[in-house]
Amino acid sequence: MQADFPVPNLSGPIGVFDSGFGGLTILDGIRHKMPQYDYIYLGDNARAPYGTRSFDVVYEFTLQAVKKLFSLGCPLVILACNTASAKALRSIQQQYLPFHAPDRRVLGVIRPTAEVVGVLSKSKHIGVLATEGTIKSESYKLEIEKLYPGATVVGQACPMWVPLVENNEFDKPGADYFVKDGIDKLLAQDSQIDTIILGCTHYPLLMQKIVKYCPGNIQLVPQGHYIAESLEDYLRRHGEMDRRITRGGSCQYFTTESRTKFRESANVFLHEEVEVERTTI
Ligand code: DGL
Repeated sequence: MQADFPVPNLSGPIGVFDSGFGGLTILDGIRHKMPQYDYIYLGDNARAPYGTRSFDVVYEFTLQAVKKLFSLGCPLVILACNTASAKALRSIQQQYLPFHAPDRRVLGVIRPTAEVVGVLSKSKHIGVLATEGTIKSESYKLEIEKLYPGATVVGQACPMWVPLVENNEFDKPGADYFVKDGIDKLLAQDSQIDTIILGCTHYPLLMQKIVKYCPGNIQLVPQGHYIAESLEDYLRRHGEMDRRITRGGSCQYFTTESRTKFRESANVFLHEEVEVERTTI
């Protein structure tokens, strides 16, 4: 067996990876719940968005990012990106880790969201709003139907929603058309939907408009809080990993794009100024 990262029982921060800025909404939820740990956030902003990229490319990019976070000392990496979780997580867990980094773990956001949504939904008719890549992968549908046999899951790709957020248009009047259109198309597929997963890291920023166009009886499920709960539970159940996470309350940020650009946009997601380093992966 060829171990790429052979230092066993290494201690370090939790790595949080996203294609760009969106994962900051997940990081925010995680840090809010578990401020004691150290974190490293890596955004592959130079190559975002991933949402329309093929399986092979998303896998290749995501694996590069995971290796980068491992090389920065992270024993545990969270793929905060739904698209990366949908298209790359399984292969990384099954084909990469056992042979190259057996002492590290990589977790995603789809399974924890699927677990919670089946509990929240009464009708077991669940809608998913996400990128084209996540919807086409059918990951949510497969995961939810496996966990909750008999559940009905329909999805709607919203290709304009990420660009609206990335371009700071999420609270402008122009966003209304696209938000309403995505929700209408989802609900037209199944009138019994009572719960909608916001299955993309960027969508919490569109929340005001989503609430405006979504019937009031439908529960909206953004992910940050639930991913944090699930991670906390994972670390409680895996003491050997929990002991390897360093506790200093720090967070380092890395981007593959320009530092200035990251700083400006991170502010929109986190409501605070952050220091960031540029890196290659
Ligand atoms: N982070 C991605 C996700 O959650 C959205 C942005 C992208 O398409 O890269 O699916």
